[in-house]
Amino acid sequence: MGLRISPSILSADFGHLVDECERVAGAADWLHVDVMDNHFVPNLTLGLPIVESLLKQVSTPIDCHLMISDADRWAPGYAEVGAASVTFHVEAAANPSQVARDIRSHGARAGMALKPATRIEDYVEVIEEFDMILIMTVEPGFGGQSFMADQLPKVRAARELVKNKDLDIWIQVDGGVSAATIEQCAEAGADTFVAGSAVYSTPDPVAAISQLRALAQTATDTSWWCAH
Ligand code: DX5
Ligand code: ZN
Repeated sequence: MGLRISPSILSADFGHLVDECERVAGAADWLHVDVMDNHFVPNLTLGLPIVESLLKQVSTPIDCHLMISDADRWAPGYAEVGAASVTFHVEAAANPSQVARDIRSHGARAGMALKPATRIEDYVEVIEEFDMILIMTVEPGFGGQSFMADQLPKVRAARELVKNKDLDIWIQVDGGVSAATIEQCAEAGADTFVAGSAVYSTPDPVAAISQLRALAQTATDTSWWCAH
């Protein structure tokens, strides 16, 4: 079973963003870019012009995580400029299905993100419009927060849904994912792992990615949802 590690550049040095992205080239499957608007979340990072510039400079595919209000209006633009995956929060969209279709119409993968208080059961009807479900394991807004283990049942519920319907939808976890927590995520059903501080706040980001990948792979191989 393939799994993916997506380092979050939120914990990288923003003064050397391209170099920081290239530091993990070849080791990371994706690069997770957190877009925050100081409205949907109480923090401000970067937006479309910087994503567009990164896309021109960086070889690893970009996984945009939009923590912004009015996703209906803004999310498709990230796909239009070439982000390979665009994830928006269902709490910030009036019509999540339509936003997913708009993103896919530009050739990108569409992801739905759920805050910790948001139930996946309320979005079962629309999941087939998506290529990925992002389950937040912290309150969105900041890197370096503690992992919320109470979100693991939601990861498991998402995996049950995808497995029962035999869908090809990735399940991503984001927030507090580290060597101490990644195995629980994989065991519950995640296959795509965002890690910010666990990669970029270490002296050797490539080694950190290798360690995370090995831990996730072993936990996946013996998990309820993947083991044969
Ligand atoms: C938080 C962001 C995360 C953040 C994770 O709202 O969505 O992607 O970078 O950081 P860590 O891995 O340090 O919890
Ligand atoms: Zn994120």
